[in-house]
Amino acid sequence: MGDQFKRATSVGEIITGFVISCFVVSLVYSYFSVSPGSFAAHRTSVFVDGGLNGQTSDMQGDDDHIISENIGEEHMKNKSSKATPMLLCDIGDRSDVCEIYSNVRIHGNSSSIFYTPDLTMDLGENKTWTMKPYTCKGDINVMEHVTAVTIKPLYASTEAPKCNIYHNITAIVFSKGIYAGINFFHDFSDVLIPLFITARQFKGEVQILMVDLQPIWIEKHKKFLDQISNYEIIDFNNENQVHCYPRVIVGLYSHGALIVDPSRTPSNDSMVDFARLIRRAYSLEREFATNLVDANKKRPRLLIIARNHTRKLINIDEVVAVGEEFGFEVAVNESSLHTNVEEFARMVNSFDVMVGVHGAGLTNEVFLPTNAVLVQIIPFGNIEWIGYTDYGLPALNMKLKYVQYCLSEEESTLTDLYPRDHAVFRDPESFHRKGWGAMAKVYLTQQNVKLNITRFKPVLTSALELLGDRNYVTWPDMSLCSNYGIRN
Ligand SMILES: *[C@@H]1O[C@H](CO)[C@@H](O)[C@H](O)[C@H]1NC(C)=O
Ligand SMILES: *[C@@H]1O[C@H](CO)[C@@H](O)[C@H](O)[C@H]1NC(C)=O
Ligand SMILES: *[C@@H]1O[C@H](CO)[C@@H](O)[C@H](O)[C@H]1NC(C)=O
Ligand SMILES: *[C@@H]1O[C@H](CO)[C@@H](O)[C@H](O)[C@H]1NC(C)=O
Ligand SMILES: *[C@@H]1O[C@H](CO)[C@@H](O)[C@H](O)[C@H]1NC(C)=O
Ligand SMILES: *[C@@H]1O[C@H](CO)[C@@H](O)[C@H](O)[C@H]1NC(C)=O
Ligand SMILES: *[C@@H]1O[C@H](CO)[C@@H](O)[C@H](O)[C@H]1NC(C)=O
Ligand SMILES: *[C@@H]1O[C@H](CO)[C@@H](O)[C@H](O)[C@H]1NC(C)=O
Repeated sequence: MGDQFKRATSVGEIITGFVISCFVVSLVYSYFSVSPGSFAAHRTSVFVDGGLNGQTSDMQGDDDHIISENIGEEHMKNKSSKATPMLLCDIGDRSDVCEIYSNVRIHGNSSSIFYTPDLTMDLGENKTWTMKPYTCKGDINVMEHVTAVTIKPLYASTEAPKCNIYHNITAIVFSKGIYAGINFFHDFSDVLIPLFITARQFKGEVQILMVDLQPIWIEKHKKFLDQISNYEIIDFNNENQVHCYPRVIVGLYSHGALIVDPSRTPSNDSMVDFARLIRRAYSLEREFATNLVDANKKRPRLLIIARNHTRKLINIDEVVAVGEEFGFEVAVNESSLHTNVEEFARMVNSFDVMVGVHGAGLTNEVFLPTNAVLVQIIPFGNIEWIGYTDYGLPALNMKLKYVQYCLSEEESTLTDLYPRDHAVFRDPESFHRKGWGAMAKVYLTQQNVKLNITRFKPVLTSALELLGDRNYVTWPDMSLCSNYGIRN
């Protein structure tokens, strides 16, 4: 077919550092992450513990600043151990996370988290830490709507709130933000996957205190949340009881859009483990896609994810027809905000190939069986790297096969809106330079897709080949849009 095929190198490679996923909906964008208030803008661990550098503080020897009513006795026994700081904050590119190992008291309604500082602790000038426990820290637009929580040390002079309820498990405090609930991609990218990364290590023995909770969101993802925590979810903002825990994590760790980097998870979890948990949560039947080699003439199933408003596949009927011509059993479906996740997950899991134009609907890749093929149609406008980072890389990390098809000018309905010598076609980078909003307005909002079936056919050939060979490896080269499926 004369298409370019490249040898795959390392499928296990994980690209981190792309800080783009938060901005898919937001129209406020900066390519540089914004420095948050009192934190340094680097991925470093901050030990808020004077004991580490051996400095003495005013508080040393002042025994009575330790509150008398201790919980978490075990941790307190280690209070002089320099290896276990009481408050440990990780300043990441996407989120800040503070882990507190002492008797922690949480009063949600006043957004306060109290802890007992180490005797030798030197908090310097900043005795309290205020943070927004959400994973889109560079996105001002969303962070504005996240409730801030304040982590405060308790001294004798402080009026210590009395514990109403003692817990002997770890608590995780985080915000659902505003995108989650209105966009399926953000549900996973900003909340569910970061929650998996942060909470999986506790094997259910962890309590969720959700900031900015919406009952409808909890209901939507209940099956998933049940896999993470064996305990009821507490509505942080409206909780007037003081809950006490031996250990609390404020914020969620995030490794990138739909990415779990095993080298940075406490229990070596990866996207494969995430996909496994999803299958368990929704009782999905198929672990593996149909292998055409031993499928006994069973027709492979192809699902086209339709979009209703923007980036619509306008000749979807032709795509269905050519899919059938290639021997697929083809179906078209689309999810909306009100879609029942469990039903949709089961439906998606029954397919071997999923095709769709770049967009949140492709998040449904998490429900596909291992070895299934994701075909992402990338709209015109130098956005292949966005599509690749958001859905392609996660697919490969889940051990799906991945094919990236990039639209030619002729296949974009932008040709109906702009003359061919317009900067929209001649210089897409000039829109990228103006920021996410300007880029998204043209390439993500104004554009629909009319596939050139002749040009698209090799993609289906690739998909069939990929289903026929489990050892077949895909690794698209982001700089090349003419490649359909990569073969050895
Ligand atoms: C303390 O907090 C203030 C304001 O939040 C910040 O400007 C200052 O740099 C912080 N100091 C230290 C030592 O972190
Ligand atoms: C306390 O320290 C000991 C030895 O360093 C360690 O084995 C133990 O797990 C620690 N306990 C807690 C609760 O951190
Ligand atoms: C917590 O306490 C309950 C009952 O008090 C006990 O059954 C359970 O084993 C404890 N869990 C842990 C992790 O210590
Ligand atoms: C939370 O605190 C506010 C005052 O700050 C109070 O008006 C409100 O009733 C409290 N909510 C709950 C659920 O206790
Ligand atoms: C992490 O998991 C991978 C894949 O299951 C395995 O090959 C690797 O040895 C594990 N690493 C550690 C440190 O457990
Ligand atoms: C998509 O649009 C069609 C008609 O334009 C409508 O019937 C259908 O309900 C819409 N689907 C969703 C999920 O919004
Ligand atoms: C779309 O998927 C839903 C499951 O969420 C299913 O009930 C419905 O029948 C599907 N529609 C079509 C046209 O296949
Ligand atoms: C469709 O693609 C084929 C193969 O690339 C090309 O020869 C043909 O001109 C295209 N058709 C249109 C209408 O652009």
